[in-house]
Amino acid sequence: GIRNISCLVLPETHSKLKNVCREFSEAELRPIAATLDKEQIYPSNQIKKLADLGILGVVVDKKYGGSGADSLALSVAVEEISRCCGGTGSIVSIHNALYAGILNKVGTPEQKSQFLPDFISRGLVGCFALSEPGSGSDAANMHTTAKREGNHWILNGTKAWVTNGIEGGAIIVMARSDIFKEHKGVSAFIVPTNTPGLTKGKRDDKLGIRAASSCNIILDNVIVPAENMLGNEGDGFKIAMSGIDLARIGIASQALGISQAAMDCAIDYAGNRTAFGNAIIKLSAVQQRLAKMATRLEASRLLTWKAAWLRDNDRPFTKAASMAKLNASQTATYITHNCIQILGGMGYVTDMPAERHYRDARITEIYAGPTDIQYLVIAEKLAKEYGY
Ligand code: CAA
Repeated sequence: GIRNISCLVLPETHSKLKNVCREFSEAELRPIAATLDKEQIYPSNQIKKLADLGILGVVVDKKYGGSGADSLALSVAVEEISRCCGGTGSIVSIHNALYAGILNKVGTPEQKSQFLPDFISRGLVGCFALSEPGSGSDAANMHTTAKREGNHWILNGTKAWVTNGIEGGAIIVMARSDIFKEHKGVSAFIVPTNTPGLTKGKRDDKLGIRAASSCNIILDNVIVPAENMLGNEGDGFKIAMSGIDLARIGIASQALGISQAAMDCAIDYAGNRTAFGNAIIKLSAVQQRLAKMATRLEASRLLTWKAAWLRDNDRPFTKAASMAKLNASQTATYITHNCIQILGGMGYVTDMPAERHYRDARITEIYAGPTDIQYLVIAEKLAKEYGY
């Protein structure tokens, strides 16, 4: 059955949204999640239905077709979706934070009118291209170039790990518009994926979140009108970084959903499985695991909601978002590992969802900055706070 295991009382609007997303995910995603994973299927019908529910423009102003909601709303929606399908959680989270969220924040009214409504109501998804085959964590060290010619820019290079890349209708591309400057030489462009010269690489064959596509995007003399630049020339790195701050809240929320699914699975199994004359949920060894899992999940959810709350109240939230992402992703790895341990052999086979949760969890420690980069961001903020 559907259980409510939240740790704080959400505002009524948010708890209603949570219930809507839970009911949708239980009905529409849970029954197909294993197949989406196995066959690497993008859930296009479900994404269209999520568009109808307003979930593809959570933080976008109503004026541009969005729901005009906040990042706490995005967090609860992504958690509930990820609880049933981690891959769909990824599609929704990245689209909302790194495409719709960035455009809503820094786009001009013309850019928003052109590139938001269809991506919110029609189930078209957007993408974000920062990493390259030769640069991931060291994001500023990119080699894709943008050269100005008359009233347009010409983009050349290869972007990597572009989530939603196969299905995406437009991409926010970061490219070096000044080769003599480091991060200050990076600009951001909105590029429709049907622009001549843009090609999509093969769909990455991933360990987890297999419903979500990712691929390389190859740019070969792609002509982009000057009015498609986001912000000013040289703003691209900061636009990307502040977008990634929201993406870290989204990925933390995805990790919460995967963790919650693994908790549900472990508790139900432990409650029904008997050994040594009793349900194993009564065995101290299992109890210790469950207690630690539940406590870490609750702590991660509090950190994630705190980061969202800071953003929603216009306070600095970079450190909080990194802490949330760091803790929730490591927790997801921990909880899914222990879920398998509690299930034993049944955790290791595809008859049960535990092994999928374990594979889905792993990405949350990698994308939008691996754990090691979250250490760096948090430690640099700490040093600043102490005046060093
Ligand atoms: N918000 C706004 N501005 C920021 C910022 C933030 N969160 N973080 C840094 N900046 C600004 C700084 O203020 C600085 O500006 P000034 O020069 O004006 O002072 C500028 O950006 C450069 O900052 P740093 O010197 O700190 O930059 P750096 O080159 O040392 O890199 C880093 C910092 C933290 C390592 C950063 O590169 C980083 O976060 N790397 C990880 C990248 C990442 O998360 N990639 C994931 C890509 S998305 C993805 O995974 C694909 C997908 O589809 C999911």
